[in-house]
Amino acid sequence: THFKPFNTLFLESQSILEPKGKVITRRLSDMAELYQDQKSAQSLMDENPLVYEVFNVEVPESIEHIQHCITVLYPGKVGEEFFMTKGHYHEILNRAEIYFCFKGEGKLVMQTQDGDYEELDMKPGTISYVPPNWAHRTVNTGEEPFVFFAAYPGDAGHNYGDIEKIGFRKVIVNESGEVKTVDNPRYQL
Ligand code: PA5
Ligand code: NI
Repeated sequence: THFKPFNTLFLESQSILEPKGKVITRRLSDMAELYQDQKSAQSLMDENPLVYEVFNVEVPESIEHIQHCITVLYPGKVGEEFFMTKGHYHEILNRAEIYFCFKGEGKLVMQTQDGDYEELDMKPGTISYVPPNWAHRTVNTGEEPFVFFAAYPGDAGHNYGDIEKIGFRKVIVNESGEVKTVDNPRYQL
């Protein structure tokens, strides 16, 4: 018998899915070492703010399926660096992804294993294409939740380790009220 079609409802006013699916919750303590300003990260640790949530529609993790989910990335900063997702390559490196932004504003930062770097702005209505082989991270550069839908091949998987070790070439920071992309001093190719 075939896998049965089904709907999921995106409740736009609450930015959640119905049914909620598999929810991933990331607080600062789950990713504190990824931020530049470790002093500020430590000082926020008692509060341990919610940085983002991912609502995953549950489909099999195989190539013939398409994983899809909603990410809600909250506004905030660690020092002057904006809240962001952990970022990852796909475990199967050459799996692409599509993001569609519903709310808020942010950046999609991407890089390849050769050290190529690209970034795109996202705002409501933006459809962003992450081609095969690019690591990807989103950053909330605004003052409201940044909400986007993602879809990618079922077997892609997530490889967080390489980004934890190497980092992205650039970081996105607030500089006197402006959003700036600056070199990441800790980036190690
Ligand atoms: O599949 C994706 O790329 C997204 O759904 C992300 O997983 C989501 O935005 C959370 O980011 P990360 O997986 O890097 O923690
Ligand atoms: Ni991905």
